[in-house]
Amino acid sequence: MNSKLLKSGHIKLYKRENSKYWQMKVKMPKLKAIRSSTGSKILKDAEKIALKYYSSFSSKTNIKLRTKNIFKKIHLVETADLTKKEIEHILDESKKYITFNKRKIKKINILEGRTIFNLFFEDSTRTRTSFEVAAKRLGADLINVVVKDSSINKGETLLDTMTTINSMNPDVLIVRHPEEGISKKISETVDASVINAGDGSHEHPTQALLDALTIKNKFENFAKLKIAICGDILHSRVARSNIIILSKLGAKINVIGPKEWLPKSLNKLPVKVYTEMKKGLQNCDIVMMLRIQKERIVGKIMPNQKTYFKKYGLDYNKLKYAKKNAFVMHPGPMNRGVEIDSKLADDVTRSLIQEQVAMGVAVRIACLD
Ligand code: CP
Repeated sequence: MNSKLLKSGHIKLYKRENSKYWQMKVKMPKLKAIRSSTGSKILKDAEKIALKYYSSFSSKTNIKLRTKNIFKKIHLVETADLTKKEIEHILDESKKYITFNKRKIKKINILEGRTIFNLFFEDSTRTRTSFEVAAKRLGADLINVVVKDSSINKGETLLDTMTTINSMNPDVLIVRHPEEGISKKISETVDASVINAGDGSHEHPTQALLDALTIKNKFENFAKLKIAICGDILHSRVARSNIIILSKLGAKINVIGPKEWLPKSLNKLPVKVYTEMKKGLQNCDIVMMLRIQKERIVGKIMPNQKTYFKKYGLDYNKLKYAKKNAFVMHPGPMNRGVEIDSKLADDVTRSLIQEQVAMGVAVRIACLD
């Protein structure tokens, strides 16, 4: 079945496989949904008919509808820019897309005609592909720029590359790059909206949003939660973005890691700091493990993997220090047997790792929407 949502989902236009005509379903809060044929075979005409019907119906019933205007930001580059209300709004919007992503036909054309560039200057599986899936499900045209084939290799600066792409009138640039703060710089240079898909050790906003959505699916009230973030805190953009998002939602955060991986800047963040898993995991509802960011530890001594796992790797024994039914998370890619015990990572009764990936698509659809 073909379908399209309008007015924040209050109007659904759909065409059954055996019908030539677009049907409309108009749903107002606290009222039964009204279904009717638009009488049109053409989607654009059906949209006009449904919108006209909707506006006369909503003025008659005098019902105030929640609109999408709460979120007015153009770029998504730093979690610090988001208010609690905006974070909650993105999570609510994302929730709608969880069911959408389970449909047989996963397509609405709300971004039809829009052009989105995936600009990944660092490796990625989850983020790059989930943004691509998200853009395509919304009907946008997505272009993957492969760095190894780009003119950066001929000496062009990154900002020149961005200005070049900007001249093609894109709507959204999704950027991953090893330089901290580069997404912000790009957002100040181009006309398109910029989404930070990870900038060095700085921020990874959509990862933190998808982690928050995963947690929200298990616990409604963030204010009652204690969440441990463990491992390579110093080099982790995921840790920083999660600390900001989860604490804004009301959760208490413990960070745990080796002393040399606990930056001084943690003093400025609303967290409690621990160097021992036993102490830091006490009473935690969620244990979020981090990848050791080997690519950012160049020239420094890497810890021995066995010694690290013994002290900071999460296994069933260390998990016992947390609450009885605590859940385990990892943003991926994970190093099995270094950051997390392989069996525990695959234990669907405790591990939310695969759910995090699924929530990544829902969150990225909501952000593009
Ligand atoms: N979590 C995350 O950002 O994964 P990728 O590096 O695979 O995108």
